[in-house]
Amino acid sequence: MQFFIDSADVGEIQKALAMGLCDGVTTNPSLVARTGRKFSEVLKEITALVPGPVSAEVTAVDHAGMMKEARALAKVADNVVVKVPLIVEGLRAVRSLAAEGIRTNVTLCFSPVQALLAAKAGATYVSPFVGRLDDVSEDGMAMVSQIVEIYRSYDFATKVLVASVRHPVHVLEAARLGADVATIPFAVIGQLANHPLTEIGLKKFLADWEKVPKE
Ligand code: E4P
Repeated sequence: MQFFIDSADVGEIQKALAMGLCDGVTTNPSLVARTGRKFSEVLKEITALVPGPVSAEVTAVDHAGMMKEARALAKVADNVVVKVPLIVEGLRAVRSLAAEGIRTNVTLCFSPVQALLAAKAGATYVSPFVGRLDDVSEDGMAMVSQIVEIYRSYDFATKVLVASVRHPVHVLEAARLGADVATIPFAVIGQLANHPLTEIGLKKFLADWEKVPKE
């Protein structure tokens, strides 16, 4: 499973790259707003830093507007993937963009049938939002499981990119289900490495090492 980092913060992305845990990046308007920087500057910097795909989202909600924004975003760098919302106009745009050879990430997916539509439109990635579904007492990972099942049954080329990841168990479940990618907030990447027994064990080894006679 590939690890993308769900962030528009260049510092976080650099740290994830140094850890070898950044196969790509996903951004969204809220993440960009959090940086307080211009989107064009941030996107140029991230696409130059990261060799893998970098998702950048359109904000238009009509086909013509999406196409205009998508073409401009795709010109920024070869590794840009255009993020399009899962609405009817968005699906139309995905189809048109696929015909132009522009890769897409269909975002805000909350059901397996929505994911089926994204695949039929020719999306490169679909982003099921597991955390936000859990927040409303639904089962985000059950949705991912059904999407994986449907995509495998029909051999769709669209990749399942698990999004709205909130904690390490989401990452574990995404990997167990055979999702292609999980896009993970930087804080959660840190949590994945931590285990209290590792910490206790290391402390004990270092303390015992102090007792070993040195040359
Ligand atoms: C995905 O591409 C989105 O940027 C992201 O995963 C949304 O996560 P959130 O629900 O934590 O905002």
